[in-house]
Amino acid sequence: MQIGVPSARRLVQDAVEELQSAGIPEAKASAEVLLAELLGVRRSELALLKEPVTGKQAELYEDWISRRKKRETVQRILGYAYFRNLRLELDEHTLIPRTDTESVVAAALEAVDRRGGSCRVLDLGTGTGAIAVSIAQERPSCDVHATDSSEGALKIARRNAERSGVEIRFHRADLASDLDGLLGSVEVLVSNPPYVRRADIPKLAPEVRDWDPHVALDGGPDGLDFYRRIFAESSPLLAERADVVLEVGDDQAKAVLELGRCAGYDILGTHRDLTGARRTVRLRWGSG
Ligand SMILES: C[S@@+](CC[C@H](N)C(=O)[O-])C[C@H]1O[C@@H](n2cnc3c(N)ncnc32)[C@H](O)[C@@H]1O
Repeated sequence: MQIGVPSARRLVQDAVEELQSAGIPEAKASAEVLLAELLGVRRSELALLKEPVTGKQAELYEDWISRRKKRETVQRILGYAYFRNLRLELDEHTLIPRTDTESVVAAALEAVDRRGGSCRVLDLGTGTGAIAVSIAQERPSCDVHATDSSEGALKIARRNAERSGVEIRFHRADLASDLDGLLGSVEVLVSNPPYVRRADIPKLAPEVRDWDPHVALDGGPDGLDFYRRIFAESSPLLAERADVVLEVGDDQAKAVLELGRCAGYDILGTHRDLTGARRTVRLRWGSG
């Protein structure tokens, strides 16, 4: 090994100690994932690396570790996140796609499959395009549309769709408004809307509170504003017996299902995420 150039193992050990002593959550995972991504190797391979890192790599890694110390997440530092089969670009305009949301995609795909694998899907509040791009990639016969109110988010979502080789029609829209071309035709409506109670935002972990866009979090005074709007405003777009698949926050499933029932939707049920939380609610429009 060259004198003065640290090994990957040494770099990680120092970074873990630095992050731990600064009280950063998931210090070991953060330090290892950042270096593995920087070097283009698997996390498990770090300890086996014989080659010393270059001075430039060590400098960049040091910069990344100091950003992590300011509670910026690993994904924001890297500028991308892994989601199902995808590597999705992200920036300050987009929420980091969460593992929880992978189970929402699974529930939407089940709805698509019950319709023969080919139908019109609309994703409201697409962010990085995590849900829409996954559905378009995994069920290529679907005609996928997606909206967001943020032009910055749509720019990223378009790039993610392009890079994944899928075609999605993106619309800049306030939720489901001004989508007259879709009237009565959406067979699967899916959304992970903002659902954090406004008063809870200051209590969130700094990684979320200080780095995720608040427009992606703020669900109004009781966290349910967007569900009320989705049920009230999207029904003109829905085909007869359309499926509605929505991500919900912890302890929101019952309230959201009840809002849907009162707005004329039939309740189909809930799906749990990997942690066992009821993360997805399913309803059906116009079957009465
Ligand atoms: C919780 S994030 C979900 C992002 C992405 N679907 C995901 O699951 O990772 C909610 C998204 O809704 C968008 N949004 C907020 N208010 C909106 C509105 N009035 N109309 C359309 N999109 C909105 C935000 O910009 C954000 O991208």
